[in-house]
Amino acid sequence: MPQQPLADIGLIGLAVMGENLALNIADHGFKVAVYNRTTDIMRKFIARENPPGGLVGCETIQQLIAAVKRPRKFIILVKAGPAVDAVTQQLIEAGIDTDDIVVDCGNSLFTDTIRREKQYADECKFFGSGVSGGEIGARFGPSLMPGGDPNSWQHLRPIWEAIAAKVDPKTGKPIETATPGHPVTTGVPCTAYLGPNGAGHYVKMIHNGIEYIDMQLIGEAYWLMSNLLGLKAPELSRIFATWNQGDLDSYLIQITADILQQPDPMHMGDYLVDYILDTAGQKGTGKWTSTNALDMGVPANSITEAVFARFLSALKHERIDASKPLTGPTPSYTGNKEQLINAVRDALYCSKICAYAQGFQLMREAQKEYNWKLDFATIAAIWRGGCIIRARFLQKITDAYTRNSDLVNLLLDPYFNDQIKTGQTNWRNVVSLAATNGLPAPAFMSAMAYYDGYRSVRLPANLLQAQRDYFGAHTYERTDQPRGQFYHLDWPEPSRPQIAIVKGAGGGH
Ligand code: 6PG
Repeated sequence: MPQQPLADIGLIGLAVMGENLALNIADHGFKVAVYNRTTDIMRKFIARENPPGGLVGCETIQQLIAAVKRPRKFIILVKAGPAVDAVTQQLIEAGIDTDDIVVDCGNSLFTDTIRREKQYADECKFFGSGVSGGEIGARFGPSLMPGGDPNSWQHLRPIWEAIAAKVDPKTGKPIETATPGHPVTTGVPCTAYLGPNGAGHYVKMIHNGIEYIDMQLIGEAYWLMSNLLGLKAPELSRIFATWNQGDLDSYLIQITADILQQPDPMHMGDYLVDYILDTAGQKGTGKWTSTNALDMGVPANSITEAVFARFLSALKHERIDASKPLTGPTPSYTGNKEQLINAVRDALYCSKICAYAQGFQLMREAQKEYNWKLDFATIAAIWRGGCIIRARFLQKITDAYTRNSDLVNLLLDPYFNDQIKTGQTNWRNVVSLAATNGLPAPAFMSAMAYYDGYRSVRLPANLLQAQRDYFGAHTYERTDQPRGQFYHLDWPEPSRPQIAIVKGAGGGH
């Protein structure tokens, strides 16, 4: 047990993310006191990994508290949910101070973070920080999305900026040269203070919603090319690798190219991807994003489609049964192969623009709803490196919001507008091909419906409002009268037997 507080920060929870984050912090010259509920895990970790003087192993919460310099900073990396409260309570009961900062770095629901900050306000400074990048990111530079008390941020900032991924200040490209003991120390850190209480975890949730749709779009591109062109995994891998040299350059495209060229360890000459069961799992952050969109009334339809696509994939048995009675066309394509590959690439890029537009629209609404002031250029900038959705494209979004911080929708930025102008004929052709060939492409299609809906002066909601007024006296506004004036018609009902009924005159039921 240490005699005097030596550590710059404490970390609780030595699963893979916790271990890697602790090593990352230690690599940057900070001393980290580590604690795990199962002491053996902590002992083994220290024995295996202890960088010279970087880690202080603690067997009890009391030891951990005694080991950290004041104001104490603790990172909690435990499963999101009740475990976060349990650990926070443990720290409080063990005697932390009101000024001590407890940072939840898990994938917590932002409303829990808002609640926890209030609930623990008399006992500590509860702070939320999203962390993205998986285990490699945690080890060598994640994207960090902090939100909470601004004074606490000043204490956390040196560590957060040191351990975050870095991008080249000129190109915005990630600097990915870190190895154990040799961290990246130059470049622009992929972290910034995002706002009070749940703002950091909210932005992380949106990141994950976008991650869902990004992955779904890539899946659809892969599926259309393999079904319409009969391409096998290695050739598809080469196509994704080529795309990764252009506008689609991103971590998810790069790993797709890697995945598609992976041979199957159990069948010589075959590829692993063809043996992986087609049912997608999920931990729930995409669903949270969709729920939030529904709660706030924001049309994030592609993000939600990506969640539904995972649900549909999980109905494997039902799908097998349904494949027999439910008929559709047999995919066939006789056109030019290169043209189709380029068209799918454009469809992917245009849909991706729409998906990000939805994610940023959600954040725009959320800042009103939760009383935050989110800086969209900064959010895009801290996603350029370290996180799962990191991409060259994020520099373009950073530029768009730097040009106009009040941009109403990403689609209205001149760069993105031009990209869609250029790619949309191909995009439409791909969507039609998917439909005529009976190939599901919900993300491509919903992104297009969003684009076409968003640019439409008139939509058929006039008829819908009439229907609502007809059956429920819900009233309507008129195109030739000022907004806010509501009308109701006592609709004649020729199709209904003429019986006497009383109709409501106002807002309906
Ligand atoms: C990240 C990821 C990560 C998430 C996984 C799994 O940013 O590093 O978003 O936080 O846990 O991607 O998410 P699902 O199980 O929901 O696919």
